Amino acid sequence: MLIAPETPVRDIAVAIPSTIPALERLGIDYCCGGQHTLAEACANRNIALTPAIEELEQYQQQEGTPAEMHWIHAPLKELTEYIVQKHHAYTRRQLALIDDLMAKVEKRHGADHLELFHLGKVVAVFAAELRHHTECEEANLFPYIAALGTGCLPELPAPAKGSLTMPVTRMMTDHDQTGDELRTLRALTKNYTPPTAACASWRGLYRAMEELEADLHRHIHLENNILFVRALEQAREQSTASDPA
Ligand SMILES: [Fe+2]
Ligand SMILES: [Fe+2]
Repeated sequence: MLIAPETPVRDIAVAIPSTIPALERLGIDYCCGGQHTLAEACANRNIALTPAIEELEQYQQQEGTPAEMHWIHAPLKELTEYIVQKHHAYTRRQLALIDDLMAKVEKRHGADHLELFHLGKVVAVFAAELRHHTECEEANLFPYIAALGTGCLPELPAPAKGSLTMPVTRMMTDHDQTGDELRTLRALTKNYTPPTAACASWRGLYRAMEELEADLHRHIHLENNILFVRALEQAREQSTASDPA
């Protein structure tokens, strides 16, 4: 695949998953903002285009791992199960850890660092929304996507009226919001840099938040750029095939 200035970033991440660590390092948004071209993404980040292309080409030499390439063709049911078992389970574990560490750090250092209480509130809202979002995907959308092509589709909750477009759009809007919140958290924590004298819990809190951010990028990329795109395509093909001529 040719990596050109006009290539949409999500196409690079889907076709050459070995470039994802480079996209992460460059701070290029390939999950929520994946529709932007590489030139636009570099301009948004204020980074030079040519060195970015060269770095991506170096990562392109390494082959994408079979696990990542697999999802372009694997049954959608398998992909929904993978996302739930790997990314949703990790998100829940990591949010529980972040809750504990946040409470500890607020209690020990809040009196001297009042900004920690504001961070704690932002983290609490972010965590509640993320838990609700993963529950919605597991309760409604993923079972529907997993059943596409089986001839036995479950009901989608109102007002979707049997159309996949509305719930997918809703989940993608949530993803955009998650992306905004991650940027806010990054700004509030100065790119997850604890103060020099920070205790182990404070350092652990920032490390846990940064790890969750990296996992969410891959998680949302799998949903926005692969799962939802393939599911909408399959639903469209099915409705065309069942339409009387
Ligand atoms: Fe998800
Ligand atoms: Fe999601």
